[in-house]
Amino acid sequence: MRIAGEWYRTIRVADDGRSVDVIDQRALPFSFEIMRLTTVEQAAFAISEMVVRGAPLIGATAAYGVCLALLKNPMHGSLDRALELLGATRPTAVNLRWALEVMDEAVRYLPVEERVAAAYQRAARICDDDVEISKSIGRHGLAIFRELAAAKGSGPLNILTHCNAGWLATVDWGTALAPIYMAHDEGVGVHVWVDETRPRNQGASLTAYELGAHGVPHSVIVDNCGGHLMQHGMVDVCIVGTDRTTAAGDVANKIGTYLKALAARDNGVPFYVALPQTTIDWQARDGVAEIPIEEREAREVRFISGLGPDGRVVEVELTPPSSPAANYAFDVTPARLVTGFITDRGVCEASLDGLLSLFPEWESDVREEGFE
Ligand code: MRU
Repeated sequence: MRIAGEWYRTIRVADDGRSVDVIDQRALPFSFEIMRLTTVEQAAFAISEMVVRGAPLIGATAAYGVCLALLKNPMHGSLDRALELLGATRPTAVNLRWALEVMDEAVRYLPVEERVAAAYQRAARICDDDVEISKSIGRHGLAIFRELAAAKGSGPLNILTHCNAGWLATVDWGTALAPIYMAHDEGVGVHVWVDETRPRNQGASLTAYELGAHGVPHSVIVDNCGGHLMQHGMVDVCIVGTDRTTAAGDVANKIGTYLKALAARDNGVPFYVALPQTTIDWQARDGVAEIPIEEREAREVRFISGLGPDGRVVEVELTPPSSPAANYAFDVTPARLVTGFITDRGVCEASLDGLLSLFPEWESDVREEGFE
């Protein structure tokens, strides 16, 4: 995506050919800052502190974290420590596990002197593939938006989204936002309702920033507004991303997604989930029972930050200092509430059969797990 005339990916190898530059998403939307990662510990910090976030970008950053670890020490002990450190950063997005497995496979059996180069090459491929995957999701989602817009006839297509599943959550383009960008670029009139997405405000700070930079009409709404809008016919379609999709089609995404899906079902609004194949956990079936839900520190709920009157970012306390808070970062939307999956291979029903119709190579693994 273009920022101030320069084309950016959210992650790239720096000019020294070794360090890794990421956008510090904690500083957005008020300032655009690059953080340079030079060690695996810094890569782990960037993921767990949400300098970078969003399932695909978490995976890409972890892949480069492995490169940085091997650069310092290419022996097996160092690889194992890196996999463990990075693997413990955030539990819900399955892309993390996927990327670490891919990196492990790419380097473990190579002679020591070949490991670093092979790791950088594999990490670069993860990133390049992610861009193609996002574009493909965009094209498949665009076809749906075109149809919905044509059926509506006049006025913009009102799209509701939750959290940030745009280019900042991936390497470029995004998942749920990719079709929105493509629709807008093609001249399909769109307007996006952006859930603020407490407590980290990925909607208000990141999605709004991205859409604004691309010129896409949008309005930020509080998290509890969507149901009201849907009751009044002001939402034509919902589209969200996912951090982990079970083989049966349940979806873990940012906390609050489930409530939007319920409201959408109650009001007959189509509810789509955009997903790269890297977010499918073929070993999991029942999302509520099996997907680990990250619990983050209470501080994120008890405080909020924003731009102060002197132009500096300040943090203010929202709750009585003695009130404890709970901070569940994700929830699970059952497959039955999802109208369809928009994947990089096409659109399918949110079900095992639907997923297998697009990813038949998983059929035998899944059946071996005992799924019907
Ligand atoms: O906690 P975050 O900001 O990493 O959560 C991100 C989301 O919930 C996204 O919707 C999800 O990762 C899909 S991103 C393409």
